[in-house]
Amino acid sequence: MSTRWGIAGTGGIATRFAVDLSLVDDAELVAVASRSGERADSFADRHGVVRRHGDYADLAADPGVDVVYVATHSARHESDSLLFLEAGKHVLCEKPFALNARQARRMVAAARDRGLFLMDAMWSRFLPSYRSLTDLIGEGRIGDPLLVEADFGFRIPVDPAHRLFDPNLGGGALVDLGVYPLQLTSLVLGTPDRIAAVGSIGSTGVDEQVAAVLHHPGGTIGAVKAAIRVPMICGARIVGTDGWIELAPFMHCTPSLRVTGTAGRQDLDLNWDGDGIRFQVLEVQRCIHTGLLESPLMPLDETVTIIETMDEIRRQIGFAYPDELLDPGTHS
Ligand SMILES: NC(=O)c1ccc[n+]([C@@H]2O[C@H](COP(=O)([O-])OP(=O)(O)OC[C@H]3O[C@@H](n4cnc5c(N)ncnc54)[C@H](OP(=O)(O)O)[C@@H]3O)[C@@H](O)[C@H]2O)c1
Repeated sequence: MSTRWGIAGTGGIATRFAVDLSLVDDAELVAVASRSGERADSFADRHGVVRRHGDYADLAADPGVDVVYVATHSARHESDSLLFLEAGKHVLCEKPFALNARQARRMVAAARDRGLFLMDAMWSRFLPSYRSLTDLIGEGRIGDPLLVEADFGFRIPVDPAHRLFDPNLGGGALVDLGVYPLQLTSLVLGTPDRIAAVGSIGSTGVDEQVAAVLHHPGGTIGAVKAAIRVPMICGARIVGTDGWIELAPFMHCTPSLRVTGTAGRQDLDLNWDGDGIRFQVLEVQRCIHTGLLESPLMPLDETVTIIETMDEIRRQIGFAYPDELLDPGTHS
């Protein structure tokens, strides 16, 4: 049975999603919504979408849509996801799933209360390379993981109107880019029990550079960095008792893994056709068709704990979004 998708937003990631969705069997892009009727029409014409809505509320009321992909800027992820969940739609919400854990918990509660599917569009988790990574670690190829090092950062010209530099649009290095290294530490090491973070706030009021060290029960350590004004390697390395795995740049969508263990070195080429965004679409459809309300590969409780970690890092570096009330610190 085909899944009928709607997209909320018509920007960069919405475009990539629409293109990659066309590679998925049993997926139909039936509707798009924008704040502007003209932008909805233009997007729909480019991607062959039949129903175009000049208001997000009209997409929520569209009875021919099963699941909505929320592709708006990060400061709207909570309100847009709630709009669609309250209208009875399943939701795939772009990363960062929410700006803070309070928002994330409200989204998760709304989905669970209504028995609807909800997922963080943390597309890394569903890529062939990440599936292999978890298999390799599970098979003990590097022994017990001890350390995860990962960074993700670029030097982007300062532009107060760009979403990455605008606190009102959910800008900043940590929440937009640092979420990728953090989902990797979470995948391999779990939830930290101690965090030490430093960061630099730039002229537009967002964090431009951040570094955090995470300690986990059992003594394992994550070291993560993110930046919007510093070019970084954008790679990752997972070190265990018997070897290590390197994720080639870009670590959030790595096409290859290098495994070094007791049996020597192995390079794994795990590239794919297309953008790679479609692997999360396949997972959403698999879950919905088998009656799962969340994905075991990106569970909602883990999404919330990753955002709690980001809250704590932001609390330590002194960065809050406008009118934001962060949870009190729970880590030292
Ligand atoms: N998974 C990935 O690899 C990836 C890559 C890039 C970005 N992202 C994430 O995707 C989200 C969107 O990023 P993007 O690069 O697509 O941004 P973008 O090109 O600026 O698009 C954002 C869209 O949000 C909608 N929007 C609603 N209210 C808005 C407002 N007040 N100001 C500006 N736009 C508004 C706009 O659509 P309408 O004008 O049509 O309403 C706009 O096209 C972000 O959360 C970002 O972190 C993910």
